[in-house]
Amino acid sequence: MTIRTADFGEDFTWGVASAAWQVEGAWNTDGKRPSVWDEATLRGRVRGGLVALEGSDAFYRLDEDLDLLQAMGVTANRFSVSWPRVYGDGRGPWIDKGGEYYDRLVDGCLSRGIEPWLTVHHWDLPQALWLEGGWTRRGIVEDFAAFAEQLALRFGDRVKNWMVFNEPLSVMGHIAGGIFEDRLGPRPLKALQSMHHMNLACAEAGRRMRAALPEGHKIGTTNVFTLCAPFDATGRLKKAQRTLEALTVDAFLDPAGGLGYPFEESVFLRPLKRYVQDGDLEACAFDYDFMGVQYYGPTPMKSVPLVGGLPVPSLRGAEANVKSTTSIPVEPKGLTEILRRYQHHPACKRFVITESGFGGFDRKDRDGRVRDDLRVWYARTHLEALRDAMDEGIPVDGFFQWSYADNIEWIFGREGRYGVIFVDYDDDFRRIPKDSYRWFQQLLTTGEVD
Ligand code: FCB
Repeated sequence: MTIRTADFGEDFTWGVASAAWQVEGAWNTDGKRPSVWDEATLRGRVRGGLVALEGSDAFYRLDEDLDLLQAMGVTANRFSVSWPRVYGDGRGPWIDKGGEYYDRLVDGCLSRGIEPWLTVHHWDLPQALWLEGGWTRRGIVEDFAAFAEQLALRFGDRVKNWMVFNEPLSVMGHIAGGIFEDRLGPRPLKALQSMHHMNLACAEAGRRMRAALPEGHKIGTTNVFTLCAPFDATGRLKKAQRTLEALTVDAFLDPAGGLGYPFEESVFLRPLKRYVQDGDLEACAFDYDFMGVQYYGPTPMKSVPLVGGLPVPSLRGAEANVKSTTSIPVEPKGLTEILRRYQHHPACKRFVITESGFGGFDRKDRDGRVRDDLRVWYARTHLEALRDAMDEGIPVDGFFQWSYADNIEWIFGREGRYGVIFVDYDDDFRRIPKDSYRWFQQLLTTGEVD
């Protein structure tokens, strides 16, 4: 089926996305301080070892990369700012040289007709703040809001679209999974405590940014929207699904939308009550201009064992046949389902698909070409699913392909390749546009592609 940009509307944003830690490298250059992910790499937690600290060398290839994006035809570039590159150990002072890098990035986008979309935080917390307790320390709410405000003051004259936080759920996963060094007590509880502080931090940062940014600039945030499959479950299975979804999706959206936490729907959330202080539920609410949907695939759920009469989801048994390198099952319909289900949520006035993409074990063929048919298939089917939702009148303003170039897929290191541009790590990070890059290029420069 043909994909046409016209079907998505004239003002639709077509972008690519990346995150500072995954692409930049230069982890201790120009006064940058270590982040939790640098530290995790140094302690051997990232597959492939220390090379992860080089990212995909984007810090040193800014113009080359932006030229490739311009030639691809995108109208927006979503990137994040590394907190320890511009604000040292977490509370400043501002590091001029770090800031200049983002000035060049923002200006480089604009001079090529590309809108910069800035994510305030994409997981690379300053290690020094982690040692103070990370997201478990309530004071981090103020630290984060002050950092966000700084960015708004410094880049707000040129950046019109902002995202406060990338996937707080995933940060809970890192904490619960013990990726970072910790001596702070039982991890599931720490993850829940961190969740509450991230919810408070997002809203507080949103308010401070709103006050600092010129009128009309847009503030959104992003969340993991992983619904449980099958989507048409009923009875006990449905109840078990809601138990999980309330923890993974609604526990972020509901507080933002002023609804408090869905304690009734999820036993997993109940221990959180001890961390919620008077006035917190009001303080977690913020009127986002858009909600960023990050969708890779559903959470398959098949059987529902019972513990003490309560359904406990069993995640065994994937629904879909195709899996990405990071074991995520693929189900394009999930995107339509998410948008349908949350279209009336008070935190979701409008949507932007801030991440979608396919991780593969791509390789360069003898002729030097990278044939990533699965990624093209993935993009086509997800864009069709998105168009179905938009045809129903659901307001979606943009789509960002994750990612523009291969990069460090967190604990998987260089193994999960998500780029539409191949990074040849054996040949000085050489950039090789993949077939998927050409596919998007045709779509974005001619208006349609088969
Ligand atoms: C998302 C992350 C992003 C990238 C993709 C594959 O959860 O936000 O940084 O790792 O997964």
